[in-house]
Amino acid sequence: MKGYELELVHILTILVTLDFSCNNFSGEIPVFLGGLNALKGLNISHNMLRGTIPSSLGNLTNLEWLDLSANKLSGNIPLQLTDLIWLEILNLSENKLVGPIPNGKQFNTFSNDSFKGNLDLCGFPLSKPCNEEYEGSTMEQENESEDANGFTWKVVLLGYGCGFVFGIFIGYINFFSNGRASLFVKWL
Ligand SMILES: *[C@@H]1O[C@H](CO)[C@@H](O)[C@H](O)[C@H]1NC(C)=O
Ligand SMILES: *[C@@H]1O[C@H](CO)[C@@H](O)[C@H](O)[C@H]1NC(C)=O
Ligand SMILES: *[C@@H]1O[C@H](CO)[C@@H](O)[C@H](O)[C@H]1NC(C)=O
Ligand SMILES: *[C@@H]1O[C@H](CO)[C@@H](O)[C@H](O)[C@H]1NC(C)=O
Repeated sequence: MKGYELELVHILTILVTLDFSCNNFSGEIPVFLGGLNALKGLNISHNMLRGTIPSSLGNLTNLEWLDLSANKLSGNIPLQLTDLIWLEILNLSENKLVGPIPNGKQFNTFSNDSFKGNLDLCGFPLSKPCNEEYEGSTMEQENESEDANGFTWKVVLLGYGCGFVFGIFIGYINFFSNGRASLFVKWL
């Protein structure tokens, strides 16, 4: 704040949407994001995120929109995402996802637009049916170990027309290799 760096221990409950879209984030989606259960919207589209979608995102039970489009996410869509019963908008398009699209609950309401441009997804609402090999399976997730020494998201939100966090949040997040995160926030 005005030149001072504050470390927030808790995410403020007013901070209910995160828009990190159109940055150059690489690495994987941190599992701990699933702990931010006040979130109503999460947009990390148009980055260079790889690895699988963490099943912990299914813990974000207040989520109304989730946009992970235009990244390099691979593996299957976790079944846990069907736990997001308030989800109105889902966009997983333009990734490298494979396997069956989960069904039930909100997943019955999304159109094929939500899933297009992936490597090899199948099942409703896409026209491609799933082979037996996928039946009832919890498909093995691809394991990408290339970021073994951790990764860094440098969030420089000011100056990007695209993503910002609820309009009042600039700062950066460092995710350290042990999975813990410190969130440094500057308030305008
Ligand atoms: C998500 O919920 C499960 C089961 O309640 C719990 O074991 C897990 O630690 C949670 N994950 C996060 C990131 O909060
Ligand atoms: C999903 O995201 C892609 C790429 O960001 C975009 O072109 C498309 O319009 C979006 N689709 C929906 C249904 O929001
Ligand atoms: C998506 O749905 C529309 C209309 O329901 C259909 O015309 C189109 O072929 C479908 N695309 C894919 C990839 O399944
Ligand atoms: C996510 O951000 C992109 C780019 O800023 C935007 O086009 C898209 O509409 C956003 N998605 C949602 C669900 O708001």
